[in-house]
Amino acid sequence: MWISIKQARQPGSIGQQAQVRGWVRTRRDSKGGFSFIEVNDGSCLGNLQIIADGSLANYQSEITALSVGSSVVITGEIKASAGQGQSTEMVASEVRITGIASATDYPLQKKQHTFEKLREWAHLRPRTNTFGAVARVRNRLSFATHQFFQNDGFLYVHTPIITASDCEGAGQMFRVTTLPIDKLPMVNGKVDMSQDFFGKASYLTVSGQLEGETYATALGKIYTFGPTFRAENSHTSRHLSEFWMIEPEMAFFEIADNMTLAERYLKYMIHDVLTHCAEDMEFFEKRIQPGVTAALQLVLDTPFTRLSYTEAVEILTKCDEKFEYPVSWGIDLQAEHERYITEKHVQGPVVLYNYPKEIKSFYMRLNDDDRTVAAMDVLVPGVGEIIGGSQREERLDVLTERMLASGLKAEDYWWYLDLRRFGTVPHAGFGLGLERMVQYTTGMTNIRDVIPFPRAPGSCDF
Ligand code: 4AD
Ligand code: MG
Repeated sequence: MWISIKQARQPGSIGQQAQVRGWVRTRRDSKGGFSFIEVNDGSCLGNLQIIADGSLANYQSEITALSVGSSVVITGEIKASAGQGQSTEMVASEVRITGIASATDYPLQKKQHTFEKLREWAHLRPRTNTFGAVARVRNRLSFATHQFFQNDGFLYVHTPIITASDCEGAGQMFRVTTLPIDKLPMVNGKVDMSQDFFGKASYLTVSGQLEGETYATALGKIYTFGPTFRAENSHTSRHLSEFWMIEPEMAFFEIADNMTLAERYLKYMIHDVLTHCAEDMEFFEKRIQPGVTAALQLVLDTPFTRLSYTEAVEILTKCDEKFEYPVSWGIDLQAEHERYITEKHVQGPVVLYNYPKEIKSFYMRLNDDDRTVAAMDVLVPGVGEIIGGSQREERLDVLTERMLASGLKAEDYWWYLDLRRFGTVPHAGFGLGLERMVQYTTGMTNIRDVIPFPRAPGSCDF
């Protein structure tokens, strides 16, 4: 019976005849005339140790030449092991080689490679301990996301990837076109967009929120979970040009309900990963970021601190820290400011709310003070902003005015305004960047190492 190495490593498998299939991590030949082969199949961090005896038919011809990275199908009996870090091992009755990885060419030899180097081998890096563990945690966070929202009665909605509207109004969109770039059709000195595939300009989405709102104002509670694209020229360890976002949107919700939901959702995911990815988390704790599990545990046990933007600015202007960008009321907080608040001042997650309207998107609800909007960002140590959200402007006149002030044309957003024209309701939502969540749970420092194939300015390999 073919079983996973995760299963084969369980003490309950002892005594079973079984087959495992995977890739060779190491081979060691003993003077006693047998070999130890460590095999991994990605089902868990740990390898299964195979004992291949000299009496096997292909022992001399194949097994003693078995190189790292080769694929194998091994049949045998699972026995108790006295070896360190394993409770079982397999005594092979057959070692079948499916594909050799040449010892001279295979890049992932025993020597440790830097994460930068491994990015050049993004097609092979999931075969390393770190990237296997990241993939399993990322998978679990995705699964936990669906579980959390489904258990709470949210409907999963698929919003479009190709869109005609700029949700964040920030103009950082990738254009989608089939026009020949070396021979653009022109009318009156301008590109004739009517000849493009959709008959007008279209883009890759920066967020599914606006379309999500149409479903929330019909079905109550929805969430989206898909890829988003931003043509933002940021070369940082927290920005990607393609990343995955989870965006819940709730009708009859106000900003405080939104904060409570965001906190429950983050805690749910953390609890889930600590419970179901214990072995991988132990690896991150030992090899990537000592202290990461205790920090996550603390998050579970502590209510998130809530601070208004105004309070945050006060803290930042009164503290002794020297910032590169000076702080005053009205500025967009920089990463260094966010990190001071969450890492030094609060030392845990913090929800910042009520930002100046000038620095936030047009759709956020204007507060009674007329200078701030009901925005909320969740900041966490090490990563900074992990969630961005708000209560939405549900008043038609105020929204129309805010759009004009932001330089947007009301007629381009007629359908969005209709939601306020026909049965408008207070509603709210937020977006969580999945990669930032993976960074936060694993302690991985660069966002390019928590997505299988990172896309960033100047870099789109594979
Ligand atoms: O704060 P943002 O821009 O919010 C929105 O897009 C809203 N429409 C969400 C909503 O209210 N439904 O982005 C949300 C989150 C950020 O907090 C961050 O975690 C992540 O998306 N994010 C990025 N992650 C990786 N690379 C980038 N370039 C990112 N930009 C935003
Ligand atoms: Mg934001």
